[in-house]
Amino acid sequence: MSTQSLSGRRVLAIGPALAGLAAGPLAGAQMEQATLAKLVGVTAADADLIMIDADAWADPALAAGIQALTISPSPPPPVLLVGSHLPTAVVRNLFRLDHSDVLEAPFTPEAVVAAIEGLLAAKAAKTVAAAAPATAVPQAAAVARCWAVIGAVGGSGATTLAIEIANQLCGRQAKEKSVCLIDLHLADGSAGPYLGASPTLRVADLAAAADKLDAAMLQAFVTPVTKQLDLLAAPRDPQAFEAAPREAILRMLEIACESYDWVILDMPRHRRSWSLEVLGGCDEMLVISELTVPALLAARSLSDEIERDLGSGQKPKIVLNRLASRMFGPAPSMAEAERALQRKAEGGVSSDWEAAAASVNLGGPIATHRPKSKIVKDVQQLVDRLAAHAVATKAA
Ligand SMILES: Nc1ncnc2c1ncn2[C@@H]1O[C@H](COP(=O)(O)OP(=O)(O)OP(=O)(O)O)[C@@H](O)[C@H]1O
Ligand SMILES: [Mg+2]
Repeated sequence: MSTQSLSGRRVLAIGPALAGLAAGPLAGAQMEQATLAKLVGVTAADADLIMIDADAWADPALAAGIQALTISPSPPPPVLLVGSHLPTAVVRNLFRLDHSDVLEAPFTPEAVVAAIEGLLAAKAAKTVAAAAPATAVPQAAAVARCWAVIGAVGGSGATTLAIEIANQLCGRQAKEKSVCLIDLHLADGSAGPYLGASPTLRVADLAAAADKLDAAMLQAFVTPVTKQLDLLAAPRDPQAFEAAPREAILRMLEIACESYDWVILDMPRHRRSWSLEVLGGCDEMLVISELTVPALLAARSLSDEIERDLGSGQKPKIVLNRLASRMFGPAPSMAEAERALQRKAEGGVSSDWEAAAASVNLGGPIATHRPKSKIVKDVQQLVDRLAAHAVATKAA
């Protein structure tokens, strides 16, 4: 069995065993045998299709080959990865390409034909609609709304709320890849682990690529979490802050804001060389406090410091987290908290340890694992208020 549409097409076959397909599903195609090294800089002008046998290569070499395709300055031809062992990280990277598919061995000749025809048809449709941007790259928004979330003290729930806010915003978007959560705790961020996602932002690579970073290249650093939510977070690395120059961080945020509709930042509360510039570019700054006297005092000081040092009139908003419905002991009430803060809080989020713990243990937002939790309703109300403000300021 062969595919008509492959007759005369140039197929780059990466893996010696693929030669056997020339007598079957690839009959009529012009096969070129090559190694993974050939993938560096390969473009659609070099071949009509790339077929890679995952079983022929060690995982790291295969990962590097796919990575080379994802960061290629011009789009590679469609890629079909086949094999009995398809490493998840490799497949995830592969799917960042405009046109790619996987076929798990053992497969029939018909399955090969169907996969190839699907890829070539998608590529042809894309060529006809040449104006459309790559599917793996988010469709450019004018400029994203960007909200920063910053904890007043350690453990106040900033990461938890940043995730819930990002997830809430996803629920309001029809478009895929519309929200990006960026964990700027580069050394030991917890957004990835809380979401059950593997961070792929290699800070050294980002620093090296900063000058030429664009929307397509940014995708090589992004971990897709759901259809709508992408995560930019770095794997644990005690040196990561030192490895990321200020320019690289600012460029990454600039491109992210051009690529998504919403960007949510999980900001470290200790000031970095880029912190003020990042906060100054945000539409909202949310300082998360818990209801203890030290946390409230820290929230007040942090907000005042940010407002003073920005000097632009932008003011952080304070969100009180882990409000208990029944207070035992000397915890401040919301009214007392607002007195200590010397301002109104923007919102409050109920305490629900079971829901918070279950979601991080299962990996994913609380709204996914415990949709009835009060946390979900409170975050929804918070986002409603902030989004209404966003719409009002955009219209103004
Ligand atoms: N509303 C809530 N109810 C119950 N538990 C919560 C709530 N919000 C957060 N938590 C829990 O509090 C702990 C700290 O939360 P989280 O890691 O989000 O805080 P953080 O401010 O990001 O901490 P860090 O300073 O380490 O960055 C986690 O165990 C989390 O599950
Ligand atoms: Mg955190």
